[in-house]
Amino acid sequence: MIRKYRLGDPIETESVVCPMPVTEGLPEGLLYVSEGCFKKVLTENTRVYGLGETVRGINKRGWKYISNCTDDPVHTETKHSLYAAQNFILVWDADDAVGYYFDTPCKVEFDVGYERYDELVVRLETPDAYVYEITPDLAENESKASEADTPCRRVVRQFRHIIGRSYIPPRWAFGYGQSRWGYKSREDIENVIKGYKEADIPLDSVYLDIDYMDAFKDFTINEKTYPDFPGFVKEVKDKNIHLVPIIDAGVKIEKGYEVYEEGIEQDHFCKKEDGTPFVAAVWPGRVHFPDLLKKETREWFGEKYSFLLDKGIDGFWNDMNEPAIFYSEDGLKEAFKKIRSFEGQNLDIGTFFQFTNVVETINNNPNDYASFYHEYMGKRFRHDKLHNLYGYMMTRAAGEAFEKLSPDKRILMFSRSSYIGMHRYGGVWTGDNDSWWSHILLNIQQLPALNMCGFLYCGADTGGFSANTTEDLMLRWLTVSIFTPLFRNHSALGTRDQELYRFPHKDWMRGMVRLRYALIPYLYSEFMKAALNEDMYIQPLSFAYPEDDRACCTEDQLLVGESIMIAPVYTQNAKGRYVYLPEDMKMLRFEGDVLKEEKVLEKGDHYIDVSLKEVVVFLRKGHALPLAKPANTTAELKNDLTYICFDADPGSYDLYTDDGITPVK
Ligand code: GLC
Repeated sequence: MIRKYRLGDPIETESVVCPMPVTEGLPEGLLYVSEGCFKKVLTENTRVYGLGETVRGINKRGWKYISNCTDDPVHTETKHSLYAAQNFILVWDADDAVGYYFDTPCKVEFDVGYERYDELVVRLETPDAYVYEITPDLAENESKASEADTPCRRVVRQFRHIIGRSYIPPRWAFGYGQSRWGYKSREDIENVIKGYKEADIPLDSVYLDIDYMDAFKDFTINEKTYPDFPGFVKEVKDKNIHLVPIIDAGVKIEKGYEVYEEGIEQDHFCKKEDGTPFVAAVWPGRVHFPDLLKKETREWFGEKYSFLLDKGIDGFWNDMNEPAIFYSEDGLKEAFKKIRSFEGQNLDIGTFFQFTNVVETINNNPNDYASFYHEYMGKRFRHDKLHNLYGYMMTRAAGEAFEKLSPDKRILMFSRSSYIGMHRYGGVWTGDNDSWWSHILLNIQQLPALNMCGFLYCGADTGGFSANTTEDLMLRWLTVSIFTPLFRNHSALGTRDQELYRFPHKDWMRGMVRLRYALIPYLYSEFMKAALNEDMYIQPLSFAYPEDDRACCTEDQLLVGESIMIAPVYTQNAKGRYVYLPEDMKMLRFEGDVLKEEKVLEKGDHYIDVSLKEVVVFLRKGHALPLAKPANTTAELKNDLTYICFDADPGSYDLYTDDGITPVK
């Protein structure tokens, strides 16, 4: 059952698509303390889930999370905000599950037992929001219960129903993708493809980072380094490989650059209070931000993707759309003035840090976010009042345009920044992680929360973006990423090369990727069923085994689809790990795509050895797992499947197939 409440005068976000009447009063399960502040008592056993892409565990208790889309590349557990604002929270206590969605683009603070262990406090920056309260019982018109429904899952399914169907990518986007910031030329990309081919490692896509553009200008191509781009796209496509370029939020200010000129002429850029366009800086130096909150600007910007679609491109990633600001023109002037004021002083304990602070706080500065405006639904809004919608609206611009520009073909799209609602137009990747062991665990823990919020198509930069990766870290990370819908290896400029063919044990890496391809019929089926039934693709154990306290406390094992559980090894030098089985399961030990061992294990704790070249999967009782013969691209995968079963018939498995390209109506 879902009830919608109105607090003050909320800004419409269009994140919820089901029209619903507003219930008078305030949510029953929350205590309204004062202006935009709610409280709820947490008992010792209360678990709190949701909030999408944030730091820390699956159970969010014990920290404070702030929805405030932030370009912060250091994802340590000290942080409160990452790139996304996904304000859905699920509070679960014994049989009692209740979900809340705080639909407001302003900052929202979720103190989940941070100040007091036994209290949830939600503080809205301004007391204007729609608040949805979702209980597991179903009203007549609500989505039907499925057999597997447990209280948490039922709450999530109802929530997902009101926010609309999750984005569905083309099937090739389940293949493996190679990316790196710093592929400078067509030749670099050709070498990457050659490297994978020679190493016989499957590959479906290569990503083009900002280096493909002319001077970091959106919707341009550097003709010198990428000559005959359409010919290149075709040459690569003939090998069944897709090129996926990046698009950034900022538009370079440059006389004669079409996107800039048109944007000025047609009034598409965000303005300052005095009516002049706001000048910020990102990769190309000075930029304007398109006012993507404005419908006409969304249409204009979305149409620009045709520049690349017309050249044969069929996938994109949207970046820097929090939006990230290196500095603003005004902020920079101010900073220089301040810095000069320190000249000649004896910088001491107080003043030295004030001095360094001037430069340290110049990027993504709150003053800048409070100094430009949007036109949204016929009204003017200062950016910071609806900051969290910007990435959503950028991706919506693209998604809505694709419906017109490419009505017969799904286009791959994922974004860095997001708000709930964006999940209908694209997926997300989890941004600039590091090649740290702790970030494998973070990756595991973010996945179910993203699913709860509708972001089914998601994944992390496999191997880690910043810092130098190592062979063992990459191998262990692969044992997570081969199960995530988005499976991309991405790394930062200046870090050690991490294409899989470069590693001494590339045969082990090949094996892992081949296993991924063997699993694609299953992973794609489970993804599609989750999308079409508004359900979870990756679940925490507690969603399936709510009565099992051990399962509910397990933070490093996941259910992937209906048939399997994974328990990846994510600690340095570990030779295996303890795995908790919430029921009897069949352990499947793979070396590459070759099944080496099948063994039924009883419910309970087991120490499982897992060498660096192995992947261990646990098959649930009464379930089957289809496997394909691996191929080097998804286009070459055949549907002659073999099934591994545990007390089930192959026929019991509900395989989903389609052409993988036609948009699903
Ligand atoms: C941002 C993105 C990263 C990309 C880089 C250069 O840091 O998060 O993925 O490689 O910008 O475009």
